[in-house]
Amino acid sequence: MALACLEWQADLGVDEAICDSPIDRYMLEATPPKVAAAAAPPNPALPLPEAVDPVQEAMAAASAAPDLAALEAALAGFAHCDLRQGARNCVFADGQPGARVMIVGEAPGREEDLRGKPFVGEAGQLLDRMFAAIGMQRSHPDPGRALYITNILPWRPPQNRDPSMAERAMFRPFVLRHIELAAPDIVVLMGRISAATLLETGDGITRIRGQWREVLGRPALPMLHPAYLLRNPAAKREAWADLLELQARIKATP
Ligand code: URA
Repeated sequence: MALACLEWQADLGVDEAICDSPIDRYMLEATPPKVAAAAAPPNPALPLPEAVDPVQEAMAAASAAPDLAALEAALAGFAHCDLRQGARNCVFADGQPGARVMIVGEAPGREEDLRGKPFVGEAGQLLDRMFAAIGMQRSHPDPGRALYITNILPWRPPQNRDPSMAERAMFRPFVLRHIELAAPDIVVLMGRISAATLLETGDGITRIRGQWREVLGRPALPMLHPAYLLRNPAAKREAWADLLELQARIKATP
């Protein structure tokens, strides 16, 4: 019971204990708020502390990574995103790094956060079935039939909320470097957050799905996210058309 209560709180985003024991604020005497001491004016002789730009920091950290292991370490150590405080695991990738197809999803959910792997919950199981239908699997020994999978965000947002624009912008350089290092022939942009972040477009996913675009000079196919398909089973028809399009493109580019 206590464990279930704790998990419920963690799911709501309660990730930090401020005191050792709870404070009953109704029992506290009303005390007038302290008036803050006036801040000293900045000394014009001293340089102002430089504001850190998380996107610049991310670009520097990502471009300095010479390989996938270094990129994973850089991502896990990147301190400018608060989501890492509430997450259990940094979710980097799964599947075959040499695969011809790389899938970029949105962000880890509860199962992914617990297991440290992308797409292992209900949506992930549907994703596996979708690709199995065209003969592809995460760890197939043939790179033409294998998959390499990552997400825009490596940390789970509380209650699976949408990643903010700031979070997407700071992880974009890592994802681009990830694509560069994994060097797939084709990138699948799985869902609206992935497509909007990597293509920098405001066009909705239902408009652009199935249309070939480019990411870092590589063909990129936006597709409907399996979580969307679970909520809208009628859209599986479009997803199937996109899978067949992907299969045809793989066959056409040896
Ligand atoms: N949805 C995603 O976009 N990524 C995951 O890893 C799981 C669910």
